[in-house]
Amino acid sequence: MAMGVGMSEEGMRPVTELSRTEAVAEWADLVQAVLAANQAYHRDDAPMISDADYDRMKRRLAALEAAFPDIEAAMNQQSPTSMVGAAPAEGFGKVAHRLRMLSLENAFSDEEVTEFDERVRRFLGLHDAVAYTAEPKIDGLSLSLRYEAGRLVQAATRGDGEIGENVTENARTIHDIPQSLTSAPAVLEVRGEVYMSHADFAALNQRQVAAGEKTFANPRNAAAGSLRQLDAGITANRPLRFFAYAWGEVSDPLATTQAAAIARLKALGFQTNPLTMLCAGPEEMLAHYREIESQRATLGYDIDGVVYKVNDLALQARLGFRSTTPRWAIAHKFPAELAWTELLGIDIQVGRTGALSPVARLQPVTVGGVVVSNATLHNEDYIAGRDSKGNPIRPDENGVGKDICVGDWVQVYRAGDVIPKVADVDLDRRKIGVEPYVFPQVCPECGSSAHREPGDSVRRCTGGLICPAQAVERLKHFVSRNAFDIEGLGAKQVEMFFKDTRLPVKTPADIFTLAERDAANPLQKLKNRDGFGDVSTTKLFAAIEAKRTIPLDRLLFSLGIRHVGEVAAGLLARHYSNWPVFEASITHATPGTPEWADLTAIDGVGTVMAQSLVEAFQNPAERAAIDALVAQLQVQPVVARGAVDSPVAGKTVVFTGTLEKMTRAEAKARAEALGAKVAGSVSAKTDLVIAGPGAGSKAKDAERLGVALIDEDAWLRLIGE
Ligand code: IVH
Repeated sequence: MAMGVGMSEEGMRPVTELSRTEAVAEWADLVQAVLAANQAYHRDDAPMISDADYDRMKRRLAALEAAFPDIEAAMNQQSPTSMVGAAPAEGFGKVAHRLRMLSLENAFSDEEVTEFDERVRRFLGLHDAVAYTAEPKIDGLSLSLRYEAGRLVQAATRGDGEIGENVTENARTIHDIPQSLTSAPAVLEVRGEVYMSHADFAALNQRQVAAGEKTFANPRNAAAGSLRQLDAGITANRPLRFFAYAWGEVSDPLATTQAAAIARLKALGFQTNPLTMLCAGPEEMLAHYREIESQRATLGYDIDGVVYKVNDLALQARLGFRSTTPRWAIAHKFPAELAWTELLGIDIQVGRTGALSPVARLQPVTVGGVVVSNATLHNEDYIAGRDSKGNPIRPDENGVGKDICVGDWVQVYRAGDVIPKVADVDLDRRKIGVEPYVFPQVCPECGSSAHREPGDSVRRCTGGLICPAQAVERLKHFVSRNAFDIEGLGAKQVEMFFKDTRLPVKTPADIFTLAERDAANPLQKLKNRDGFGDVSTTKLFAAIEAKRTIPLDRLLFSLGIRHVGEVAAGLLARHYSNWPVFEASITHATPGTPEWADLTAIDGVGTVMAQSLVEAFQNPAERAAIDALVAQLQVQPVVARGAVDSPVAGKTVVFTGTLEKMTRAEAKARAEALGAKVAGSVSAKTDLVIAGPGAGSKAKDAERLGVALIDEDAWLRLIGE
């Protein structure tokens, strides 16, 4: 019998008689009970309650929701009544992380770990030992779980670190992830790794084979594929696990040390890795690394290294972050995996900046659980057996670098996520009569000559935008995730439109005229083509339209100018703030001009990058493409970081002389965190010079230019320390 609003079912109070508070309390309990039952049924194949009881609970939930329609929104939690089997109509929603999700710097040797410790102590100006935690680096995918008032309200993937995907419903099906916490801070974001055990991975692949579905290459792919299912019902049937190892926003600190914070997460009900250990310094860290490495094969899940983190959270805070990685942590990776196979051929790929990259076509071989059939050969010197200075690489017994020929037996090397590379060659197995490889001197894509600049190991096509390979690679970069990120317009679609004769897209500007050109063409509309259709065409045009407004830093990164990566784009955007100022300055910035001095005075902008940027803006073809693009856009200005409430936000400061209270690196990082720009030299644009003992010419420059000059104590008072 279906139960309508206000009707009662065997002894339950009619929902119409409940106060709002009573209804909310009952609803929350029922949601937990239904979710737990779902999990028992879907995940563990072990139902806890009868079908009849389950149905009764769901009916009661529906009745409560009918009587109090805003209950879901008020509790910020989706009800199971609207969840089961109901896949969202399109991709996942986006979630902006309140605190960025970072990645880790890598170390590949004991020395690099020791250097990391030295760097940490140098930055902090400490001579004494610093303690670190050491724990396995889980090979899965990171997830951020947000709890409010003890309830799980959101789960998001890392995405680009700033914006991830909302996978809340999927995360709710993971057994290791508590739905609610007792005695947790009011706001708590728990971060960790979703992974799949070896046994569960093997069983899943067996089920996939039996069902005629695709199998997964490794447990990490299986975990990622399972978490990112639009239908949470599928995720529920995939045995995912979760280790907590970090946190994001918290309303009250979890603890004062990393080790205690992890212990607190464990006490709250999370799985934390049992191999996490507190180490007094590098010696103990490396010993624990060997211990974890020795257990690697029997852990039952994939790990790819050991993560070290400064234990004292106050020191972590002082160390802070670089653009995408913390200064207080490092991943010590396990050595790469190797295999031998035959080199079938060498292809030349032409990249976005014209670089000719040789790619090895290999007889497929399994390297550390992944089938590899392509690997990089880096550049022509690498194939010839020498480095960029002419020194031998892969030396034979006579110290002569071994070259690589098609038909050779080569060693393939794979470390984590990096592209596999050809590392070595077995000359004993070289066939008779093989020819040395001759590197092309012209671009295989456009026939333009391919040049090597002195000191550069890379040969580059000189065709610029007339080279179809460069043009299409630039377009792919333009639409990529950290650039314009246009939904429905990925590398595949870009290739298609690039070759298209009816609606060609040759430059970024063409993307923004697609809809208009399609409308102007009464015949052969995009929507009538294979692979498109009404809905996907409308969506594509809407997705393009949505990106007509773009922040300056993203635009600059998207242009794909050599040496101008994401970090540089951010620096430039924050320095010039808006497009007209940027454009006017760069157009006039040739060495010797004030614009050039201004550009190269930006901390982090060197002459190589400046030259590359200026060349792009002064090359007529490039410039025409940029202008045509910008004419299609509204470029949003970028405000200096941390502009909030800081007396130094937006100010350009220069440190000089010896600082006594903190190291130069720390002072710079603190200033930047407060929104100041730190420059290397004093100019008329400098707002403030902080001079310690021994300050020389910069202090004099400040006096000459009338720039305010203060000492370290005054600086600390100014920033409120
Ligand atoms: S800490 C701010 N600890 O490795 C530091 N990360 O290569 C945040 N990972 O994005 C990360 N095991 O997905 C940390 N024990 C561990 C980890 C771990 C795996 C992943 C994580 C991160 C990636 C960086």
